This record gives sequence, structure tokens and C-alpha cells, in this order.
Amino acid sequence: QPSITILAIESSCDETAAAVCTDGKILSNIIATQKVHEQYGGVVPELASRAHMENIVPVVDAALKKANITTAAIDAVAFTQAPGLIGALLVGSQFAKSMALALNKPLISVHHMQAHVLANLLLDNPPAFPFLCLTVSGGHTQIVLCESPTQMKVIGETIDDAAGEAFDKTAKILGLPYPGGPLVDKYAKEGKAIYKFPEPKIDGLNFSFSGLKTSILYFLQNAGKSNVYKEEYIATEAERKAFIEDNLYNICASVQERIISILMNKVKLAVKQTGINRVCIAGGVSANSGLRTTLQQTGEQLGWQTFIPAFEFCTDNAGMIAITAYHKFLANDFAPLSITPSASSSM
Ligand code: KG4
Ligand code: ZN
Repeated sequence: QPSITILAIESSCDETAAAVCTDGKILSNIIATQKVHEQYGGVVPELASRAHMENIVPVVDAALKKANITTAAIDAVAFTQAPGLIGALLVGSQFAKSMALALNKPLISVHHMQAHVLANLLLDNPPAFPFLCLTVSGGHTQIVLCESPTQMKVIGETIDDAAGEAFDKTAKILGLPYPGGPLVDKYAKEGKAIYKFPEPKIDGLNFSFSGLKTSILYFLQNAGKSNVYKEEYIATEAERKAFIEDNLYNICASVQERIISILMNKVKLAVKQTGINRVCIAGGVSANSGLRTTLQQTGEQLGWQTFIPAFEFCTDNAGMIAITAYHKFLANDFAPLSITPSASSSM
């Protein structure tokens, strides 16, 4: 059988990424992270589109060079079609379509959230089907039941903020730069989870994180004297700043512990309800060291098989787009050159 080589492009948010894979093996995985957004405390869509325009050709070129191939070796071009920032998606999709046309090769459209799930297939020992995946990113929090590379269904999701947003908003409240998730993770390692933030009571497999943000705001508004808040104790700005400075590590550890417990309790329920005990994690928040350790320990305790992608395939990357596209190629699932991206889309 001839081998299948795919060039994949990811541009849904603030990373411009390209990867090459041959027969499901990643030969290169190049990511250009956009720094321009840091000073704004969040991704600025217009600036993201412009940065993708600057980055896309050099990033694709680097991916081909690293894989040691020329465009002549490409059998199909894949791109992220949805969901994401529309201007950002347009840059990657337009580039991929042009390249497919120029090379006279098929085009493959990929759903970003499905790709996060299938990042687990890049492991040396990938999960057998069916498996459950907790996908936790800056925009999504989902429990996905994955029956095959091309069949998956969301069985639980957030009704408000995503887990990554909970990390990022906490970081913002604490005065840390965007994206704050990795910093909260780093500081949590130095602290103890001594503050007990409430766990929301949501039925079934859905999540909620907006209440956590509110309770952190209240907690800081009265400089940690939560019990005093009801009597409307409002700390001065100086008091608040000093409290955060003195307790930063413990606050981060406490928030992180609560986010993890919210996630893990629902995963435990999903295992119970489905009877499937192969559990994966995916998405930017799966880079969180506390979540990775907790999943592994919970798996050992409860007899699950657990799977965690390598760091480079957790946050946004094109390797996950490539592996998803490879399975679509095998299923003869190609896209017309007239396809357009969309900002939102169900799986
Ligand atoms: O999957 P991703 O790269 O982009 C989206 O599709 O959203 O996820 C980005 C999110 C951000 O919210 C970021 O703060 C979070 O993942 N994140 C982390 C860590 N690394 C990235 N959150 C907690 N701990 C980390 N180590
Ligand atoms: Zn993502």
C-alpha cells in the first residue's frame, strides 16, 4: 500500500500551526504563538487574523522542511474548519484551499474539538474504542464519547464558562498576564489548597464555572474574610493587594483544586453511566499538571485506563488536525474547494 502524507493547518485562535504526518505518524509539528495579545489580557480577533497572515507561509515552510519533504510528497491538505475566530479560520482555510488547488490534491476539513480528542491517538499506546474524553480548553469543556475516529458525541458540556476561562479569569483577577492558566498551574505547585471554594450543584454530566469566578471575586473583595462579606465588609484596594501578594500561591492551589474536582466528579459520573473506563483528556487545560496527576491517580484507584497526550499535542497544534485528517482520508471524507469556515459548529 502506498503511504499517505498529509499537510495540516490550524489557525482557529492565536496559534498559527502546521504539521506533516505520514500514515498517522507526525513528522513535524510547528507552532507560532502570537505574542501581541498578552498586553490586552485576551485574544484580539483582528490582531490574530493579521498575525496568521504573517505567520502562515513561514510556518508551513518550516513544517515541510522539518519533515524533510517537498510539496510534491503531499497527498492531501487539511485545515481547521470550525469552531474558532472567523477571521483567524479564514486565513488557514483560504491558504489550505489554495494549496490543494495548486497541487491538485484533495482537501480535508477538520473540526477543532474532534481533533483535540484524537490527539490521544498520537500516543505510543493509544486508547482502544470506545473511550471517554474530557476536552478542556479556553473555549470548551466537554465530555465526549468517542466510538471511532469519525464517530463521537458530546455527552456533557459547560453551561457557562469553559475550564480554561475559569483559569484565565482567575489569573486576570489576581493581576497575572494572559493566558493565565499556565501561571496558576505553576504557582499552585508552591501553595496549599487551604481555601474551600464552593462546588456548583449541576445535574447530570454538565459543568458550570461562572459561580466559581463570582466566589473568587467576593473572596478577594473582602481580602479573604469571606465570612465577613455577608456583613458587607469591603476591603480597601491596598488590603486586597497585600492579601493577594501574601497568599498568591495558596489562592492558585485552592482555585486549581476546585476546578479539578468539578471536572473529575463529572468524569467519574460519566464512567459510571456509560460503563466505559478508558478515559482520555485533551485541550489546553489538559496541560495542567494537577489535572494530569489527579486523572492518573483516580485511574489507579478506580481501575480505569487513562490517557494523556504529550504537552505539544494538548494546547492548539496542527498535529491533532493531521491525525484527524488521516482518518478522514481513510474514510474517503473530503471537502469541496467551495467550503467555508464557521465560527461555531456542533460536533
Ligand atoms: O486548547 P487551547 O490551546 O485553545 C483553545 O482551543 O481554547 O486551550 C487554551 C487554554 C487557555 O485557557 C489556557 O489558559 C489553558 O488552556 N491552559 C492551562 C494550562 N496550559 C494552558 N490551564 C491550566 N493549566 C495549564 N498548565
Ligand atoms: Zn483548542
